[in-house]
Amino acid sequence: MNANASASRMETRPASLRILFLSAEVFPYAKTGGLADVAGSLPKAIRRLGHDIRIVMPRYGFIEIDRWRLKKVIDALSVPFGEGSEIAIIYEARLDDVPVYMVDNARFFDRDGIYAYPDDAERFIFFSRAALELAKALNWQPHIVHCNDWHTGLVPNWLKTIYKDDPFWKQTRTVFTVHNLAYQGVYGHRILEVAGLAHHGFIAHPQLAHWDHVVHFMGRGLIYADFITTVSPRYAREILTPEFGAGLDPILRDRADTLVGILNGIDVEEWNPATDSYIPRRYDVASLEARAENRRALLADVGLPEESEGPVLGFIGRLTEQKGIDLLVQVAEDAARYLDARFVILGTGEERWQSMIEAVAEKHPEHVRAVFTFNNPLAHLIYAGVDILLMPSRFEPCGLNQMIAMRYGAVPLVREVGGLADTVQDFDPRTGEGNGFSFKEYKAQALYTALVRAAENWKHRGVWRTLQERGMTTDFSWSRSARQYIEVYYRALNTSGEIPERLREKLAFLPGATEATKTP
Ligand code: GLC
Repeated sequence: MNANASASRMETRPASLRILFLSAEVFPYAKTGGLADVAGSLPKAIRRLGHDIRIVMPRYGFIEIDRWRLKKVIDALSVPFGEGSEIAIIYEARLDDVPVYMVDNARFFDRDGIYAYPDDAERFIFFSRAALELAKALNWQPHIVHCNDWHTGLVPNWLKTIYKDDPFWKQTRTVFTVHNLAYQGVYGHRILEVAGLAHHGFIAHPQLAHWDHVVHFMGRGLIYADFITTVSPRYAREILTPEFGAGLDPILRDRADTLVGILNGIDVEEWNPATDSYIPRRYDVASLEARAENRRALLADVGLPEESEGPVLGFIGRLTEQKGIDLLVQVAEDAARYLDARFVILGTGEERWQSMIEAVAEKHPEHVRAVFTFNNPLAHLIYAGVDILLMPSRFEPCGLNQMIAMRYGAVPLVREVGGLADTVQDFDPRTGEGNGFSFKEYKAQALYTALVRAAENWKHRGVWRTLQERGMTTDFSWSRSARQYIEVYYRALNTSGEIPERLREKLAFLPGATEATKTP
């Protein structure tokens, strides 16, 4: 019998998997970005395929018990924490059929926001550890723990160290999904004690000298997880390079055979122009002309003039380095002057980008309008009303807005990176192929020329309509990607559960429980 035959004989493929899905944010309960959208929609699709997936998230202070009809399921769960333990109360909500367990602890989560507190490391250690203890308390043994981003990065680390000999966790494997490599969770040595990992120490890697004696949450997830996924095939390749690897590419290269890119989907029920209750006029691909009414409503809503020669542009997103705001701002000026384009910008985030945008908006009040709040109804109206949605991202693991835009008949204009490159093909007037516009170099000039091309094609109503129809009839639902995740779960389940040899050879595990780690 050859090796393949014996391997397939031993393969475990339970028809229904138990999956514990951990996320720091889940839409509609708590959201800062795309992670929440994914966590609020992917599990539903996995459930529809017959698997028992359950979400765990923190119950932040702003998630009201009455409003969401949370049911208390555990009064007092004791969670190991540092030298002792802390108590969690567990609530349960339902997202369609998916149970959503919420970890409540006033000290850590009774806050107005989600992140950016000085004790974030403690908060997410507590949350992640509580999730594991919860599964045990429910006597619900997951095949897979699916971790998302750095907040949950220690879970694979724990399962391969302190829980290694625990029969409850013996068969469980971990999948770690990178939604954004830029946020890594790097903390000082004291955190090892809080995490109960001091005896297992620090991790040193020859190509990561700057790692010495810090605790790197994302890095640990990437080292210890049985499988790694990220949110588009293109980003999965990009992060193997120093340009996009955010310092972690040496580890990712050693794990390339267990790294898979799976394109995100969008929640096609939440985002459906035919049923959207936030927009004045509903429409579908057969009634595209009705869109004009939403366009007028949008311009009126933000106070921009209705009459002009050019297209209406939109941007929606977090105002961070990643999103290419510097390019947007440089181009907005010329777009107003030479293309007579009107531009609606919606976002929250860093002060410096906000003031840059404010400056152009003040200079061109007839053309540029910016709204710096989290405004879901306005977001819907922008998708339903703009002609072109801009996403000039510096990097973009997946990006959801370009897909939502297409579903709403807005044509995306994107930089050719990450998931944007996987979903938007530049329109080629010679062949007639493409579903949007894109540019390569991170330069205002490159964005502007793509915009000139888009604005020109917008004037050719037939061409434009074709682009809109292509976007509106593309399937962006989760069903295909959900199947790919399940394949990854099966592959993870059939791994040995050991750190891959190639990586282990390079790592050094330095003692952590020494006096040296305790003195500042
Ligand atoms: C992060 C990424 C974004 C991705 C989202 C969901 O927000 O920046 O590109 O779409 O996560 O995976």
